Amino acid sequence: MEKKMKAVLIHKYGQKNIEMKNVSIPDISNDDVLVEIHAASINPVDFKIRDGKLRPLINYKMPLILGNDFSGTVIKAGKNITKFKAGDPVYGRPRKSRIGTFAEYIAVHEDDIALKPANLTFEEAAAVPLVGLTTFQAFHDILNLQPEDKILIQAGSGGIGTFAIQLAKEIGAYVATTASNAGKDLVERLGADKVINYREENFEEKLADYDYVYDTLGGDALVQSFKILKPGGKIVSISDVPNARFGKENNYPFWKTIAFRLISRKLTKLEKQYQVQYNFLFMKPSGEQLNKIRELIEAEKIKPLIDQIIPFEDTQKAMEYSESGRAKGKIVIKIK
Ligand SMILES: NC(=O)c1ccc[n+]([C@@H]2O[C@H](COP(=O)([O-])OP(=O)(O)OC[C@H]3O[C@@H](n4cnc5c(N)ncnc54)[C@H](OP(=O)(O)O)[C@@H]3O)[C@@H](O)[C@H]2O)c1
Repeated sequence: MEKKMKAVLIHKYGQKNIEMKNVSIPDISNDDVLVEIHAASINPVDFKIRDGKLRPLINYKMPLILGNDFSGTVIKAGKNITKFKAGDPVYGRPRKSRIGTFAEYIAVHEDDIALKPANLTFEEAAAVPLVGLTTFQAFHDILNLQPEDKILIQAGSGGIGTFAIQLAKEIGAYVATTASNAGKDLVERLGADKVINYREENFEEKLADYDYVYDTLGGDALVQSFKILKPGGKIVSISDVPNARFGKENNYPFWKTIAFRLISRKLTKLEKQYQVQYNFLFMKPSGEQLNKIRELIEAEKIKPLIDQIIPFEDTQKAMEYSESGRAKGKIVIKIK
């Protein structure tokens, strides 16, 4: 009889009540490994995908198993696999066309995973891949963040922010961040040099001459960010709209790049007005970068921050909590 697994899925975009169903355990190709998942983390991208908000960037077939990062144990390796074997503890972010980590098993390309940091539990390791890779790519691939650079990290107490403060401090940058009273102690503990209470103060009135802004909020917070930069400064946003540069650099079709140019017109004007550069980042999976992150974690330079560990059966509640926007650090689903 065919073996089944439990998975959390939707049948159509906008389906707020996700379902837990028994589905087939996926087959692997020669370049894949089959992983038994122990834990997965919740990311805002999960409910954005559920609601169809990412359709301009990627459109999924239904039914769709949700979930974008995980930790687990390799069960089986495809014919071409040289880096992993059955029994290896791994963590990863599957490529965007093959998501589905809210499940007991996943078939994943070997380039998208790395060995789990040895000093983390499976729950802690599952909290890292998506926020870790996004921030690593923002700081190293786009900003080239250096010691003494001044950076504003928006929403320091969130999943991204708690990782980003630690990575920026490890690089040696000067870090300002925004947080409410509820997140102040946490971001200070992580090493933030300056904390702006965003409920009481306007960051753009308190900060000036910054090199970089890591924008996790978009909208008005992004618009105000232009004011705090030096000429030549850079913004990397993971929450607002893509621009034409993003379209060209990531080989989107010409018509999409034109559409990105149109929706980002206001930001292009601000770039010219303040002589700064606006970049959009849509993170990419990378086992290679996860290895670099593993080294930082094993050297105790970075530690994931977990708000709550929630049983697999309560994934709906975990998604709702993430959607409240109030989590401090990461929400993790314990699967096995
Ligand atoms: N483009 C990409 O590739 C990519 C990758 C990863 C994430 N993202 C996006 O990045 C964003 C952040 O993700 P996340 O995982 O960090 O979210 P999150 O963990 O849900 O963020 C929640 C945190 O944000 C804080 N916060 C909320 N509003 C704030 C404000 N106005 N100013 C300062 N802090 C505020 C909250 O603190 P209080 O409760 O104290 O207010 C809470 O601690 C999401 O939109 C996500 O989709 C994009």
